[in-house]
Amino acid sequence: MTFPLTRSRRLRNNDTLRRLVRETTLTINDLIMPIFLVFGKNKVEPISSMPGINRYSLDRVGEHIAELNKLNIPGVILFGIPEHKDAQGSGAYADDGIIQEGIKRIKDQAPDLLVIADLCLCEYTSHGHCGMIKGDQILNDESLDVLARAGVSQAKAGADIIAPSDMMDGRVLAVRSALDETGFSQTPILSYAAKYASSFYGPFREAADGAPQFGDRKTYQMDPGNAREAIKEVLQDIDEGADMIMVKPALPYLDIIAKTREVTDLPVGAYNVSGEYAMIMAAAEKGWLDKDKTILESVTSIKRAGADFIITYFAEYLAKNLL
Ligand code: PBG
Repeated sequence: MTFPLTRSRRLRNNDTLRRLVRETTLTINDLIMPIFLVFGKNKVEPISSMPGINRYSLDRVGEHIAELNKLNIPGVILFGIPEHKDAQGSGAYADDGIIQEGIKRIKDQAPDLLVIADLCLCEYTSHGHCGMIKGDQILNDESLDVLARAGVSQAKAGADIIAPSDMMDGRVLAVRSALDETGFSQTPILSYAAKYASSFYGPFREAADGAPQFGDRKTYQMDPGNAREAIKEVLQDIDEGADMIMVKPALPYLDIIAKTREVTDLPVGAYNVSGEYAMIMAAAEKGWLDKDKTILESVTSIKRAGADFIITYFAEYLAKNLL
């Protein structure tokens, strides 16, 4: 049927009608809020490239958690900055490490809030890479034991979900096996399966103090030009035992989210990363974009592409002001 029989504008005539036929609506249930934890006392440190986002010491994170809980946000994902970094990244698996202490404290305060532990080594290693190194090589198999050990210590501390983000080959199987052997067969793995070597992580590296001290992450994170390879990574992580899949970043990779949605029935998450947050906040501050409308449109587009849930620094703002 063609014009004049078909008129698409008929269903756009007023807001109620538009609401009725809207295909994708963002809800609070879709959102996960990232949290940065630091050692020390009485710290709420603003991150300059991420206005509105802070790093919290353990004694101050409670206020933030109470607010998120009140807003009914389903979960948080934790990143920690350790007191000392070393070549092994031992702070990642210390039973009294920053993440482990954070998990215990947050689960004590808010038992129903899902606590996702980001599992990586870059915040904990002196060289800032996500695995063990030898010279300028980032070692794969030698990194798996350390990651598995860190994942188990996060589960032991009470994490609800373990989320490996390091991009070493075989890490999902290594973490799954270690969890199963230590009594955590019920703890799910959310794999950052398709994680790209992206410049959009810039503000995060300031926030988490995790920039590589030499080279870059291109030998383990994915090349931005590749889409078929993302599906290979996704299917491989599913084979290794991943319960949920993540694509990261989100907005420049909506095609990857859509393709991932087509090849698996597992829950698919997307990470609306620090640079995506910073871009909107900076343009809004200059008056170049309408902040609220741009936030709602861009996070909704991630869901429309196929994400079941979205990790976003806008989670609190969205829940408080826009949903
Ligand atoms: C750790 C990790 C990074 C991010 C999440 N986990 C940084 C990186 O890979 O360099 C980035 C998140 C963001 O930019 O918001 N590997």
